[in-house]
Amino acid sequence: MATLLLFPIFLLHITTAAATALRPCYYRDTCPEAETIVRQVMKRALIREPRSVASVMRFQFHDCFVNGCDGSMLLDDTPTMLGEKLSLSNINSLRSYEVVDEIKESLEKACPGVVSCADVIIMASRDAVALTGGPDWQVKLGRLDSLTASQEDADNIMPSPRANASYLIELFQKFNLSIKDLVALSGSHSIGKGRCFSIMFRLYNQSGTGKPDPAIDPGFGKKLNKLCPLDVDQNVTGNLDATPYVFDNQYFKDLVAGRGFLNSDQSLHTFQETRGFVTLYSEDQDVFFRDFVEGMIKLGDLQSGFPGEIRRNCRVVNSHPSIVVRVPKVDDGW
Ligand code: HEM
Ligand SMILES: *[C@@H]1O[C@H](CO)[C@@H](O)[C@H](O)[C@H]1NC(C)=O
Ligand SMILES: *[C@@H]1O[C@H](CO)[C@@H](O)[C@H](O)[C@H]1NC(C)=O
Ligand SMILES: *[C@@H]1O[C@H](CO)[C@@H](O)[C@H](O)[C@H]1NC(C)=O
Ligand SMILES: *[C@@H]1O[C@H](CO)[C@@H](O)[C@H](O)[C@H]1NC(C)=O
Repeated sequence: MATLLLFPIFLLHITTAAATALRPCYYRDTCPEAETIVRQVMKRALIREPRSVASVMRFQFHDCFVNGCDGSMLLDDTPTMLGEKLSLSNINSLRSYEVVDEIKESLEKACPGVVSCADVIIMASRDAVALTGGPDWQVKLGRLDSLTASQEDADNIMPSPRANASYLIELFQKFNLSIKDLVALSGSHSIGKGRCFSIMFRLYNQSGTGKPDPAIDPGFGKKLNKLCPLDVDQNVTGNLDATPYVFDNQYFKDLVAGRGFLNSDQSLHTFQETRGFVTLYSEDQDVFFRDFVEGMIKLGDLQSGFPGEIRRNCRVVNSHPSIVVRVPKVDDGW
């Protein structure tokens, strides 16, 4: 009987995400300081640990590709739900969740229960780019937070660092993102770091050949071999481009020179379908910035279509506050 009574009450507090039209200045009346608060916390994070803003910037990709931009990747596992944090692409890799917690705490103090975690990711990603020398732009807001997350969906959707450009073109196409969007958005790797784990195969056994990826510039290859010898602790990290704290077009210059870090990066130059954009962006930073902003807006427009809420704590849905960490399945071949 109690559940029958609770169900309609629960329904009153959720809305369908699909019904929400995203728009700029969504919180103008309900939380006018929202964007200022997010930027302030991101500025502090940048000073405390320069890489953390890149780590937060990456959240937009990992959130929006898995069932839309709904904050699902921020949910901790529960006894009944394996979330996305321990999925193949995220385990031992996504980091700086505490920066989002800090943003959310500040927002809850200023305007409790108003700003979604999904919108926090979108604002914070934009701020990470703007604060490291990249473009600044107006973001659309008004997203809701998911009531669930799926490790399985994240495993199935998120690309491996081994992916090549033709695989990525098809993947992005599923989200209505063009070849131009793929290359421009990959320019996110202008900031941040990656682990040796993500490049061991391309240094020592590309496509099972027992040889390195021939696209690696020999001088750069020597540096990578030194950073990541065969017996290395695979959590050791290297820079994704030569200027990992500055959002610029150095990433594309590096790809042209065979100095891309990930296989997915270098492959954008190897494949003829994507090479034109790599060359263009390496020569014209303004065009890169323009196309990047366009791509980020399209990425941010991906919606879940499932019911949602405004979470009070980004790690837990409002009605089920239990946290349990589970051991994920490990796939060495990923
Ligand atoms: C195109 C397909 C993509 C692939 C295959 C890919 C893969 C990766 C991998 C493997 C890493 C390093 C992870 C590690 O070694 O722990 C990484 C880092 C990163 N990715 Fe991507 N990524 C892609 C697209 C994107 C997009 C679209 C964005 C943002 C919109 C993005 C933002 C980042 C950032 C900022 C980092 C550095 C994070 C840090 O330093 O903590 N990536 N990516
Ligand atoms: C690209 O990757 C796909 C999927 O992994 C693979 O089937 C294909 O053979 C690769 N293409 C090239 C040219 O390496
Ligand atoms: C891509 O665009 C088509 C046609 O406009 C639309 O039906 C589909 O839902 C879109 N897919 C995504 C993932 O947004
Ligand atoms: C390289 O990869 C292939 C195929 O994945 C595998 O059979 C082989 O044992 C690997 N070689 C080394 C040295 O790891
Ligand atoms: C990386 O570090 C984590 C803990 O921080 C550990 O569980 C994991 O096994 C390490 N991974 C590799 C590939 O060494």
